[in-house]
Amino acid sequence: MGFETIQSRIENGVGVITLHRPDAMNALSEKMMLEVVEVLDQFESDYAVAVIVLTGSEKAFAAGADIKEMVDQTYLPAMQQQFLGQWERIASCPKPTIAAVTGYALGGGCEIAMMCDFIIAGDNAKFGQPEIKIGTTPGLGGTQRLTRAVGKAKAMEMCLTGRMMDAAEAEKVGLVSRVLPVSDVLPEAIETASFIAKQSRPAARLIKECINSGMNTSLEQGLGTERRAFYSLFGTADQKEGMQAFIDKRKPNY
Ligand code: CAA
Repeated sequence: MGFETIQSRIENGVGVITLHRPDAMNALSEKMMLEVVEVLDQFESDYAVAVIVLTGSEKAFAAGADIKEMVDQTYLPAMQQQFLGQWERIASCPKPTIAAVTGYALGGGCEIAMMCDFIIAGDNAKFGQPEIKIGTTPGLGGTQRLTRAVGKAKAMEMCLTGRMMDAAEAEKVGLVSRVLPVSDVLPEAIETASFIAKQSRPAARLIKECINSGMNTSLEQGLGTERRAFYSLFGTADQKEGMQAFIDKRKPNY
């Protein structure tokens, strides 16, 4: 679609976004942010896309925000223009999102992977928040999402030292859902996404909404959200079809 820093395609109900700045370890430039937002807008409004997969290269999912673009940044423009803030668009996407991570996912790279609903990682993946080493803090949610994902002790250690976590450790602590050989990561992420794409879309959307809203509310409020979602699906044809198909011993046709 004529992008400079990403590639995009649609297959089997899955929109795939590939970060593509091979000379810069897929560093997250402003141009890349605008292109990712543009393709997310397209995928969100396109019925042919039910699930989105975000990936990078074998060597680097993304090595963080572009340090060369940031070095001369100053406070007021950063604040007034909400510098890099549009990356949050990944987190607010209502369609399910999967990060297929191989290689480095550092700084903003780790942060945008964590904005996705879950991460499938290659056995060469390395996650880290190394901003401390360049005199700054994580700026796209690292101190918040990493803490919620792996707990305070690991998050503090990783953010305060910049230590990288390998794939095995990331799976052990629950940062990633699965670890696979590098060459299997993207095909498996697309297969998983296309499985989800064949399920009831309202159900998938509400499951995502319930889990995400539950992360930010009390158990009681989260249970209330879930119950309302559950009741609301009785108003859909998909619920009737899904349950009837089970009873008829056939595959549902959503
Ligand atoms: N920004 C800009 N350029 C980057 C980059 C980044 N984040 N990461 C890598 N590059 C560039 C390098 O400058 C180099 O370019 P040149 O060939 O022009 O010199 C090229 O990518 C290849 O990188 P290396 O030679 O460093 O490759 P390596 O294999 O020796 O090391 C690496 C790989 C460990 C990922 C290393 O590049 C690195 O440490 N990168 C920076 C990681 C980092 O600090 N990320 C946090 C950024 S700040 C941030 O993200 C803030 C936020 O929360 C929003």
